[in-house]
Amino acid sequence: MLISRLNAMTSPNRNGAHNVADSQVTLARVMEVMDANNLGNVHGGVILRAVDTTGGTCAARHCGGPAVTAFMDEMAFLEPVRLSDILITKASVNWTGNTSLEVGVRVEAQRSGSVDHIHVGSAYLVFVAIDADGRPMKVNPVHAQTPDEQRRFREAQLRRESRLALRRRIEELRKES
Ligand SMILES: CC(C)(COP(=O)(O)OP(=O)(O)OC[C@H]1O[C@@H](n2cnc3c(N)ncnc32)[C@H](O)[C@@H]1OP(=O)(O)O)[C@@H](O)C(=O)NCCC(=O)NCCS
Repeated sequence: MLISRLNAMTSPNRNGAHNVADSQVTLARVMEVMDANNLGNVHGGVILRAVDTTGGTCAARHCGGPAVTAFMDEMAFLEPVRLSDILITKASVNWTGNTSLEVGVRVEAQRSGSVDHIHVGSAYLVFVAIDADGRPMKVNPVHAQTPDEQRRFREAQLRRESRLALRRRIEELRKES
């Protein structure tokens, strides 16, 4: 996997917050025969792995240490990725909580011989920062500065409420039955 963009990390500001740009990561890799499914396109699992790797790298950079994947939202595959395409995954912290953070990952493909990027899909993942014993630990807050970053923060907050409400509802249903 080629790291095509990795911003220099800066220290947190005086409130202990990190800027979104400081942990953004872009990874890129040419798709090869081993990445193919039986139809000759790229296997969805290969794309999901790249999403998790890019998102996890971004989360770890924000946290300054390991972060595990706690949740991955559903992802629609909008376009096939073909062999010889360059698969490009771009990750950015959208939101931070107490010990968890949401990272958004945009997936693009650059067809062989073309300079255009095709939007293949987007995914949202929740990571949890862990200490040496694997226990959740506090994350530095993210500082959403630009209008886009602030919109993503608000939208991520809504997704979090919906994930937790769904989890609670399922737990209640299981207790009832
Ligand atoms: C992720 C993990 C550390 C959470 O541990 P836990 O004891 O359930 O921790 P908590 O209940 O205190 O939750 C920690 C945070 O994760 C969030 N979280 C946990 N499950 C979540 C879910 N399904 N959706 C959204 N957020 C979730 C909690 O809301 C909390 O966030 P906050 O501290 O910002 O409020 C634990 O479940 C784990 O180790 N899972 C396996 C991870 C793994 O192996 N991943 C794949 C390879 S990296």
